Amino acid sequence: MPSNDKPASIRLIQITDCHLGEEPDSELLGLNTDESLDDVLHLLTATEQRIDMVVASGDIASGAHAAAYQRFPSTVRASIAAPLAWLPGNHDQRDMMRSAAGDHVLMDYCELPHWQIILLDSSVPGYEHGDLEEGEFLRLRQYLEACNKPALVFVHHQPLPVGSHWIDQYVIRKGQQLLDTLATYSQVKALVWGHVHQEFNGHFSHFQLLATPSTCIQFKPGSYDFALDDCMPGYRWFELGNDGEFTTGVERVAEKHYGIDFQSLGY
Ligand SMILES: [Fe+2]
Repeated sequence: MPSNDKPASIRLIQITDCHLGEEPDSELLGLNTDESLDDVLHLLTATEQRIDMVVASGDIASGAHAAAYQRFPSTVRASIAAPLAWLPGNHDQRDMMRSAAGDHVLMDYCELPHWQIILLDSSVPGYEHGDLEEGEFLRLRQYLEACNKPALVFVHHQPLPVGSHWIDQYVIRKGQQLLDTLATYSQVKALVWGHVHQEFNGHFSHFQLLATPSTCIQFKPGSYDFALDDCMPGYRWFELGNDGEFTTGVERVAEKHYGIDFQSLGY
């Protein structure tokens, strides 16, 4: 947390790939995804002294479950009284999310004091891979032309390979175009995603590339075929300074037995 002699900052939390099922007792490969989300939210409230915004970067639900899109915001809000934003992943149903979001969950953009948060939709209905329609590039460029505040850009899929063949088949098809577009705007500070269920830290041009563990099952980094990791569920924090600089890190829940089927060949 900032000390008194530092400027005030924004504490932004990313949670991702919660994969909630139709019912609160639904499981993914043996893990109850509501339970692991609850564990991450408990960790958050125990660890974070202040939370100014929460961004959920896709795969909120494991399928088109209207009940999950109702349950997720109320579950988060029961623990955290901060503005909530979400964007769709490959498992989500974007129209269902937009109607559940109403005017109480942000889906496109948020201008904060000293920062702007841009949410992109890389989902392609009916497919696993990511892509960006021309309208998304247009929207992105409009935000960045209109506002020169430091920007965090969130999207579901990875824009470039992260080193796991099986999941790198699903990168954003126009990932290089996205990176090249962001590179032309000096105020972009980071491109942040989910989908890969693992931590990733990199750079492109002048900005950071970051991926974040899921709140449920974890994928093994560097694996050619599908493989689960035994790391615990987690979240990412951002401390966004008034000077345009930021720090970030990942926290995970304490060791726990979730009953995950580590022999599974996919999900
Ligand atoms: Fe995903």
